[in-house]
Amino acid sequence: MTTIGSVPVLTLDGPSGSGKGTIARAVADRLGWHMLDSGAIYRAVGHAVGARGIDPTDADAVARCAAGLAITFRDPGDGGDTRVLADGADVTDAIRTEAAGAAASAIAALPEVRKALVDKQLAFRRPPGLVADGRDMGTVIFPDAPFKVFLTASAAERAERRYKQLKAKGLDVTLASLLHEIELRDARDASRTVAPLRPAADAVVLDTTGQPIPAVVARVLAVVHKA
Ligand code: C5P
Repeated sequence: MTTIGSVPVLTLDGPSGSGKGTIARAVADRLGWHMLDSGAIYRAVGHAVGARGIDPTDADAVARCAAGLAITFRDPGDGGDTRVLADGADVTDAIRTEAAGAAASAIAALPEVRKALVDKQLAFRRPPGLVADGRDMGTVIFPDAPFKVFLTASAAERAERRYKQLKAKGLDVTLASLLHEIELRDARDASRTVAPLRPAADAVVLDTTGQPIPAVVARVLAVVHKA
C-alpha cells in the first residue's frame, strides 16, 4: 500500500501574480500529477463568509465555516478552467474578483482558519504526485515535500500581468490601483504572524520577471527531474 508520505509533492509558493497558477497547472499536466490550488480554498471560504453574513473578524465563526465547507475542484473536461465548487455551488467566477482576493487575504490571516483548513489540503496528496500552489505549501502544509520552488517577480510586472488578465475579461481596472492592491496584499501576507509568505529554507527561488511561461515551466520541471 502507498503511504501518504511516499507520494511526491512539488510545492510552488510565491506572491500573487508571480505566475504560480499558470505554472502549477502546466507542470502538473506535464508530470501527470494532481494539483492543489490552495488560494482557491481561501477564496472560497472568504466568499462563503461574505455570502452568509458571517463577521470576517470573528475567528471562531470563520473557522467553523471553513471546517464545514465542502470544497471540490472539477475539471470541465473541455480544456477550460478548473471549476471550484463550495457546498456544491459553482463559485469559480465569484472567487476571482479583486474583492474576493482581499476577503481571502483577510480571513487567511486568522490562525484558527488556517488550522481548520490543514486536513483539507493534506487530502490532496494522492498518487502519483501533487503540485501544491500557495503561500505556505513548502513551509507549513508539506514541509517534507521533496521538491520546493518559490516563484517571485517584480511588483510592477505582477501588476501588469494581472491588468492584462482582468482587461481580457472585460473588467474596468487601472494599472495603478492594481499595483497598489498587490503591494498592500504582499505586505499583509508577509507580515502576518501565522504562516507569513516566505520561501522555505530548502526551496529553489526562481525570479520570473521578464521570463516567458515555457521557460519558467522548464526551470520548475528541472527541479523535479534533477533529483
Ligand atoms: O493565490 P491566491 O491569490 O488565489 O490567494 C488568495 C489569498 O489567499 C492570498 O492573498 C493569501 O492571503 C491567501 N492564501 C494563503 N495561503 C495559501 C494560499 C492563499 O494565505 N496557501
